Amino acid sequence: MDILKTKLQIGAKKPFKIIHMSDTHLTHADLRDGVRKVKLAEDRLPIFPHAEEMLEAADQLAKELGAPILSTGDLIDFVSLKNLERAKEFAKTHDLFLAAGNHEYSLYVGEAFEDAAYRNQSLQKVQAAFKNNIRQSARVIEGINFVAIDNGYYLFEEEQLAFLKEEVKKGLPIVLLLHVPFYKEELTRQAEDPCTHKTIAYIRDEQLIKAVIAGHIHKNTEGTALGRLPQWTTGCTTLRVFEIS
Ligand SMILES: [Fe+2]
Repeated sequence: MDILKTKLQIGAKKPFKIIHMSDTHLTHADLRDGVRKVKLAEDRLPIFPHAEEMLEAADQLAKELGAPILSTGDLIDFVSLKNLERAKEFAKTHDLFLAAGNHEYSLYVGEAFEDAAYRNQSLQKVQAAFKNNIRQSARVIEGINFVAIDNGYYLFEEEQLAFLKEEVKKGLPIVLLLHVPFYKEELTRQAEDPCTHKTIAYIRDEQLIKAVIAGHIHKNTEGTALGRLPQWTTGCTTLRVFEIS
């Protein structure tokens, strides 16, 4: 487990810290969900052996810094009662703000084409574990508006674009929290979806949007998105402390 520190100057009323965590991939299951799910948990645990350790570390760091935890999704690896109970307990006992990732709605990993209909099979159940709307939410800290959008299927949807436009009307600097970062390969694919294309153009041109914080690729990266936006991704076994001023 490592901790990275990143500075971001975007005009906060006073300096503050947030903890970015992503792609924790909890792999809990028990027989209430049946043997197939228990087998899935056993198969997935060796891929993500540090999930509980990361929640512990986030807990410690949050207490130490008195900072909120902003997660860009895949907190759970798949939908199970035990995973959702654990997520709910963590959300209840911490200042957690989450943009969902694709795995939040995975019933069995990689079993099906994942789209809105697939997501809707578990959305209500998953949403019930968290305090904020996991599809789109915003919270303001020291004059900075953190807008979290679930783009876990690489797409932006009309209601999310409308939500973002409403948030822009607040006139505050915005940090976007996304599951999937902007990167070249995906941008080409996303251009085929009209609403996603429109949303990306809007994000590129809206000057109140100052930075992107994302996950999904399970790597720590730092770069520029859409030709102008500083963008960070944080891997599965890293906590990134943003010092925002
Ligand atoms: Fe992930």
